Amino acid sequence: MKKTLFAALFAACAFVSSANAEKLRFGTEATFAPFEFTDKESNIIGYDVDIIKAIAEVEGFEVEIVNLPFDSLVPSVLTSQIDGAIAAMTITPERAKQVAFSDPYYKSGISAVIRKDDVEKYVSLDDLATQRLCAQIGSTGSNVATKISGKVGNYNTVPEEFMELNAKGCEAVINDRPVNLYFLKQMKEDAFVEIKELYNGEDYGIVVNKKNQELLKKINSGLAKIKANGKFKEIHVKWFKVEE
Ligand code: ARG
Repeated sequence: MKKTLFAALFAACAFVSSANAEKLRFGTEATFAPFEFTDKESNIIGYDVDIIKAIAEVEGFEVEIVNLPFDSLVPSVLTSQIDGAIAAMTITPERAKQVAFSDPYYKSGISAVIRKDDVEKYVSLDDLATQRLCAQIGSTGSNVATKISGKVGNYNTVPEEFMELNAKGCEAVINDRPVNLYFLKQMKEDAFVEIKELYNGEDYGIVVNKKNQELLKKINSGLAKIKANGKFKEIHVKWFKVEE
C-alpha cells in the first residue's frame, strides 16, 4: 500500500516536472551526417541530436531542434530566435567573440574529397592550389578552401557540394572529415575519394548566447554527467561504431 502511494506520488511529480520542464530551441543545419541529418520521415537525427537530448535529460529541460542554414545559426543565437545551436560547430576565436561555446565535445578536422578519376592529378592539397573548390557557406571548410585556392563555391547544404563536384563544377569538396567519410561510406558506387592530407585540430562546441551563462553552465554540467555515466560513449559508438 505504502509502495503504491509512493509510486503514485512519484508518477505525479514526474508528470508535473515534465509538464513544467522548460523547452529550449536548439538550431542545427541538418545535412551534416552523421552529426545532424533527416530520416525518411524528416525527423532530424544524428550524433548532435542525441548529445543535446542526453544533456537535456540529465539537466531537466526539453529540447526542440530547429533546422536552419548553417550561416544563420550564430546570428539566430545572437537575436535569441533560438536558445542555442548544436551543429558540429567548430570552436573558433572569431565565433567565440560573438557567442559562448560549451566545453569541447568532439575532435574533428577538415579533408578534401575529389572525383575518383582525378586521384593521380590531385595527390595533396597543394595540387588544388589553382582549382575551384566547393564548401559549405560560413564553415571552417570554406575558410580552408579560401586558403588553398581562394576560388570557392559556397553552398547551403552538403548534398549540393557533392552534386557540384559530380557535375565538375568544382574539383574538390572541402568539409569536416567525419562528414566526408560518412558520405563516402553511404555512396553505392565509389565515384569519389578522399585526399589523404588533412587539416586537423578542430573541436566542436555547443553554442549559446553569452548573456545566458546559466544555460552554458547547465550544458557543461550535463556534458560532464553524460561523460561520467557512459551515455556519451554510447552515443559515440552508436554513430561511429568505435569508442572515442
Ligand atoms: N565544423 C564546421 C564549422 O564549424 C562545419 C560545421 C557545419 N555544420 C553543419 N551542421 N552543417 O564551420
